[in-house]
Amino acid sequence: MKVFVTGVDGYIGVMMVPLLQRHGHEVVALDTGYYRDGCLYNGIDDFPNVHRRDLRHLKEGDLEGVDAVVHLAELSNDPLGQHNPEITRGINHQASVRLAKLAKQGGAKRFIYASSCSVYGAGNNDIKTEESPVNPQTTYAECKVMVERDVSAMADDDFSPTFLRNATAFGPSPRMRFDIVLNNLAGLAWTDKAIRMNGDGSAYRPLVHILDISDAVACALDAPRRRFITRSSMSARTATIIASRKSPRSSRRSSRAAPSNSDRPVPITAATASASRRSGKCSVSLASGMRRSGPYSSTPCSRRST
Ligand SMILES: NC(=O)c1ccc[n+]([C@@H]2O[C@H](COP(=O)([O-])OP(=O)(O)OC[C@H]3O[C@@H](n4cnc5c(N)ncnc54)[C@H](O)[C@@H]3O)[C@@H](O)[C@H]2O)c1
Repeated sequence: MKVFVTGVDGYIGVMMVPLLQRHGHEVVALDTGYYRDGCLYNGIDDFPNVHRRDLRHLKEGDLEGVDAVVHLAELSNDPLGQHNPEITRGINHQASVRLAKLAKQGGAKRFIYASSCSVYGAGNNDIKTEESPVNPQTTYAECKVMVERDVSAMADDDFSPTFLRNATAFGPSPRMRFDIVLNNLAGLAWTDKAIRMNGDGSAYRPLVHILDISDAVACALDAPRRRFITRSSMSARTATIIASRKSPRSSRRSSRAAPSNSDRPVPITAATASASRRSGKCSVSLASGMRRSGPYSSTPCSRRST
């Protein structure tokens, strides 16, 4: 399958591309290269076929002949998103929806979007599911909700959007993000020899390894293309609960497509989508995940700015 991946120079994208290539996909890509000047460890070759362009400047025809789009390229966290909400909306909402329109016009059948569990806002003690109401608290999270809303309206027999509401990612990547919680704690432990908790220790946050996010995307590309939307918060805990709560019978029922004359996309879980492959569970644990450098050598990066 020819897959157009945006955000390939980022924390997740740089790990996802080799995995998609191993699955036999031809990857064409887009990234402005905001973070290309830095890398944590060696081994990143420039991916072939990368458009060094801003998502907002894509033109009609740029996605001609693409079978699927995996969309990661956004301003990817709350503080950055709050810095200038107008720019955030321009990239994260408007340019993302336009990307989906160009993909559909160009003949792509699938559009897989890196949504976020931040759409739920602050949780109580309950586990959120695909049916839980959204309650976005920041511009970043509001944009995720608006993209889901606007792109799901484009779903039809020829175009299947899939929304993965990823938990907070963790694990080493050549384009490391130390602003996210587990990476931050691990970085502080290494540099300051102390793990600092800023809260009272009662906060709960779902986490998922970047290789599991990448694998979920590969599963969504392989899954039978029907009129459904896939959403999952994809933490090890929630994914396991979703998988174990469903009887094999109900799993079969929920992964079946809506009748083709239905206009209503049917939500299913990423756990269900990947059930035939790995019983729907995340494969990388917190303990082992911080040591998994994926396809890259873990020797420190010697590269200077390009
Ligand atoms: N990392 C997480 O914990 C997490 C959790 C949930 C969802 N997500 C989502 O996954 C996606 C990828 O996250 P990440 O952690 O790899 O982020 P990242 O910031 O490391 O990577 C984003 C990439 O997109 C590129 N980009 C940003 N704006 C662009 C634009 N206008 N045009 C072209 N390229 C642009 C950047 O150069 C960067 O390489 C994001 O959409 C993010 O919201 C991430």
